Amino acid sequence: MAESLHISGESKEAIYRELIPQIRSLLTGEPNLTANLANTCAALKEAFDFFWVGFYLVEGDELVLGPFQGPIACTRIKPGKGVCGTAWIQNNTIIVPNVDEFPGHIACSSLSKSEIVIPIVHNENVVGVLDIDSKELNDFDETDAQHLTELCQWLGTSCFG
Ligand code: SME
Repeated sequence: MAESLHISGESKEAIYRELIPQIRSLLTGEPNLTANLANTCAALKEAFDFFWVGFYLVEGDELVLGPFQGPIACTRIKPGKGVCGTAWIQNNTIIVPNVDEFPGHIACSSLSKSEIVIPIVHNENVVGVLDIDSKELNDFDETDAQHLTELCQWLGTSCFG
C-alpha cells in the first residue's frame, strides 16, 4: 500500500489523473468497505482541500451518513430529499453551483456554497452516494463530474458486495 499521496499536477484534470489510480491502488486488496470509503474521503480531501467529502449509504428507505472528512453532518436523508436524496432516486450525478438555489437543499453547514453528488451503483441498484461540498460558489464542473463518476463506478463494482 502507498503510504502517502503523490500529486504534482496543478490543474484539476491533472490532479484527478494522478489521484484516481492512487486511490484504486490503495483500496485494491482491502475488503473492508468502511476502511476503503474512509481512505477515499481522506485522499479527495487531501488532494483538493474540499470543505466536506463523505459518503451516504442506502439503508432500507434512507441514506445514512458513512465515512466522511469535514464538519459534523446530518445523519439520515430520505429519498428525494436534498441533493443527496435527489441524486439517489434519479441515479444521476448532480452539480449544484449555488446551494441556495437548489430547492430542498439540506444545509449541514452554512459555509457550504456549492456541491456535487454522485451515485454509486452495485448490481444495478444505487447503494450510496459520494457528496462533496465547497466553500466556494460554482466550484464543480464537468471535469469533477467525469472523474468522480468514474471513481464511483469503480467503487460500486469493486468495493461494494
Ligand atoms: N447538502 C446535502 C446534505 C449533506 S451535507 O452537504 C454533508 C443535501 O442537500 O443532500
